[in-house]
Amino acid sequence: MNAASNSERPEGEPVSLWVATAGSTDFPVLDGDIDVDVAVIGGGIAGLTAALGLKRAGHTVAVIEAARVGTGVTGHTTGKVTSLHRLTYTGLARNHGNNNARTYGQANQDAIEHVAQIVAQEGIDCDFRRVANYTYAESDDALERVRAEAALTARLGLPAAFTTEVPLPFPVKGAVRFDGQGQIHALKYVQGLARAVNGEGSFVFEGTRAQRVRDGSPGVVDTERGTVRARDIIVATNVPFGGQGLFYLRSHPHRSYIVAGRVDTPPMDATFISADEPMRSILTVSGGGSSYVLSGGEGHRMSESGDTAGRYRRLAAFAHDRLGVGEIAYRWSTQDGIPLDGLPYVGLMSPTSKHVYVITGLRKWGLTNGTAAALILTDTLTGRENRWASVFNSNRLTPVASAGRFIRENLKTMSAVLAGKLSGPPSPAALAPGEGAVIKAGGKSTAVYKDDDGQVHAVSAVCTHLGCTVGFNSADVTWDCPCHGSRYATDGTVIQGPASKNLPPAPQP
Ligand SMILES: Cc1cc2nc3c(=O)[nH]c(=O)nc-3n(C[C@H](O)[C@H](O)[C@H](O)COP(=O)(O)OP(=O)(O)OC[C@H]3O[C@@H](n4cnc5c(N)ncnc54)[C@H](O)[C@@H]3O)c2cc1C
Ligand code: FES
Repeated sequence: MNAASNSERPEGEPVSLWVATAGSTDFPVLDGDIDVDVAVIGGGIAGLTAALGLKRAGHTVAVIEAARVGTGVTGHTTGKVTSLHRLTYTGLARNHGNNNARTYGQANQDAIEHVAQIVAQEGIDCDFRRVANYTYAESDDALERVRAEAALTARLGLPAAFTTEVPLPFPVKGAVRFDGQGQIHALKYVQGLARAVNGEGSFVFEGTRAQRVRDGSPGVVDTERGTVRARDIIVATNVPFGGQGLFYLRSHPHRSYIVAGRVDTPPMDATFISADEPMRSILTVSGGGSSYVLSGGEGHRMSESGDTAGRYRRLAAFAHDRLGVGEIAYRWSTQDGIPLDGLPYVGLMSPTSKHVYVITGLRKWGLTNGTAAALILTDTLTGRENRWASVFNSNRLTPVASAGRFIRENLKTMSAVLAGKLSGPPSPAALAPGEGAVIKAGGKSTAVYKDDDGQVHAVSAVCTHLGCTVGFNSADVTWDCPCHGSRYATDGTVIQGPASKNLPPAPQP
């Protein structure tokens, strides 16, 4: 038995600050069949930005969201709206050349301006404000890398400078600073996008999970209680559900953790990320009458989850010790797809697709990458040329460098599969309240969780995506699949794909 306990839960309510401080939406469930120009599956920042762009261009759209809009990765983000992505450009220029690195930067810069414009034009109350964003160095080695990134990004025409003036409450050696960047309450922003999309022949549906996508003229999206027929379909579910486009092989999910602690000081006009390891991301914000400092980090591949409670504790210690944070109010985690070659995938789902498009691989910078991706597809579906489309093309040829990475990443997934298959012998000894374990009995693996009231919940431990064995995440109280990152609630409900079906109930072993 591979048991894990949440009896020593880390500090803070296990909910994102953004979810805790945004009101909720109440769009209807799709019930019946409808026809629109474009069906958009997924009500996160990528899907809803595309939907609004297409509606503004004169198309009718239907957004199909499995849960509530914005409550996926977007509602669990840090909230930086920036084109400075730690030290990304050095790697992009090395692997893809300066021109493609420049295009990536321009797309992300334009995405910042697009968000600012939409906030103003639609009057969305989402705490968007301009800040400087810093990648800071504490070690000599990181200082060199920060200097190089600053010099390169300035040459690429981005708003970059090297500085030793970094407004952090602890000493650092220097930083690359991008001016005119932003931060946002991304969930409130996305709720505002949804309100702008809904109406005049366009729709937003919540509580409606797409089960199947059929390419054709028209294309069809099947859901439990109805279908959407559309000329074009955009799959913006963060990771395409099921096996579509085989993107679960071309990117891997990377999880990170965030704690939000209360402070007495007002928010700074700056956001930060460290160049050194362990990576730390910092953002200050006010909400609900309090000020908070967000500290993020502890990122890992899904196959290497380890002690999740310890990860929250290390972040809390950083917030207390280095940022003067008092009580940790909230904690949460989420994951995003990291593409093999460092560039998001935007375009047709596969080389043979006719009308089905995808946005994925946003590499933990999707508030801008997802916005840029949506602008690309808005142009593509409207017959307009887009200058970033070829660089982000979902069917681009994989460079040699990423072929090696493909093999390495998928070998790691294979080890996760084997680890799941080899987990311990059946041992149905009593679980303590708050503990979960995968128990093997009668040739079946069952995911068993005992809640705080002592009630036992048993579901199949076999991930409905491709059959890996899930493991218990004690800090977030979820069943997580180590292979491609699907995540389930303790009653088996899918929280994050690529799985699209719940873990079915199972008899108690
Ligand atoms: C810890 C962390 C911090 C981050 N911080 C930042 C940051 O500061 N700045 C930044 O730019 N980026 C950041 N990112 C990345 C960014 O948050 C994401 O890239 C972005 O929010 C992804 O948006 P999305 O629309 O692709 O996905 P989502 O917001 O997840 O939207 C997809 C939606 O699809 C729905 N869905 C899934 N399957 C189905 C289905 N079958 N049918 C219908 N609906 C379905 C889901 O419910 C979900 O609402 C961070 C990522 C992580 C992991
Ligand atoms: S997410 Fe692919 S097998 Fe679980």
